[in-house]
Amino acid sequence: MDLIIRDATLPDRTRADIAIAAGRIAAIGTDLALHAGQEIDAGGNLVTPPFVDAHFHMDATLSYGLPRVNQSGTLLEGIALWGELKPTLAQEALIERAMQYCDWAAARGLLAIRTHVDVCDDRLLATESLLEVKRRVAPYIDMQLVAFPQDGLLRSPTAFDNLKRAIAMGVDVVGGIPHFERTMADGAESVRLLCEFAADKGLRVDMHCDESDDPLSRHIETLAYHANRLGLHGRVAGSHLTSMHSMDNYYVSKLLPLIREAGVAAIANPLINITLQGRHDTYPKRRGMTRVPELMAAGIDVAFGHDCVMDPWYGLGSGDMLEVAHMGLHVAQMTSQEGMLACFNAVTEIPARILGLEDYGLQPGCHADLVILDAGDPIEAIRLRAARRYVIRRGRVISQSPAVRASLDLPGRPGTVDFRLAR
Ligand code: FE2
Repeated sequence: MDLIIRDATLPDRTRADIAIAAGRIAAIGTDLALHAGQEIDAGGNLVTPPFVDAHFHMDATLSYGLPRVNQSGTLLEGIALWGELKPTLAQEALIERAMQYCDWAAARGLLAIRTHVDVCDDRLLATESLLEVKRRVAPYIDMQLVAFPQDGLLRSPTAFDNLKRAIAMGVDVVGGIPHFERTMADGAESVRLLCEFAADKGLRVDMHCDESDDPLSRHIETLAYHANRLGLHGRVAGSHLTSMHSMDNYYVSKLLPLIREAGVAAIANPLINITLQGRHDTYPKRRGMTRVPELMAAGIDVAFGHDCVMDPWYGLGSGDMLEVAHMGLHVAQMTSQEGMLACFNAVTEIPARILGLEDYGLQPGCHADLVILDAGDPIEAIRLRAARRYVIRRGRVISQSPAVRASLDLPGRPGTVDFRLAR
């Protein structure tokens, strides 16, 4: 064996050793009588497959303040601001920002990212740049690119041609933004065109869909219809789906089974949805995140994405999917034990399935991509946004972080504070 992790707590709270050989998990069991070149004592800490972000914008990341800050905090000002920035983008600077973000991601145990890339720039500079980033980070991050017509497939005259060029260059997934087209009818038509194109090419689909507070924005219905009609089950995701928050309950009771029947997954982006939505409300202000527990209860795969880190839409973030799960848990009020575990799964195994990652997981034969957290179980990991003590990629430790402890000097209570519960 190359590496053995001793005394790990697995996400299902069982304890085991994990043996690794040739970059893959060779065995999992209690007190494995095996020897390895390297041993790590997990000390009962949680060992999980890596975090997966199903929804990100790496072409815009770390551009906060360029050329100015979003004053209204709305999606539409963010899109306008990005439109100002786009013509000034330089390939080297974009690659450098994305590479810096990937450093953060690796250190956070975030080893698979689906990123949208704006193709509404005839130079396709961001596409070329992110394809280069994907090549450079391949040893440690699985990157999947989505051709994203930010300015509207039909609204922007060259968008469809550019999208097709991006796919020909090696972009993996077909994107869309039906709620940004000029009319509801154009939005529906864009969904049809994009789904038919994806079916023809054998590609996955991931659309920004109904990212508004308009309860009549129902493009998810059209997306589910075409996914079902074209046999794209398990290959389509609807991202954001925030209008569902404001929809009529009766309509949603019809909609959820249709999404389930079509095998369409949902991707909520809690940090962004809670800040961008409800901006036109006075009080009460709507939360604007899609109906996460109801989607899950209907048997639909739901992932939480990060969406933005320090860009025209959001000025915070650091690639920490536990922060994303933490926010999603709060906004969706998923405070039961099952709910909190589901929030952990929404940043690990569910997005891995949505991306179609192969050999992801904790079975023998899976890639030895693992994170050892300074926490005893998934719920404690979310509570503490726990330090990633070790990040392991293909059996090799690629990042280490110290445990978070404080030394106290209190009257009568000297010692060290450990924020984990004693086990
Ligand atoms: Fe997005």
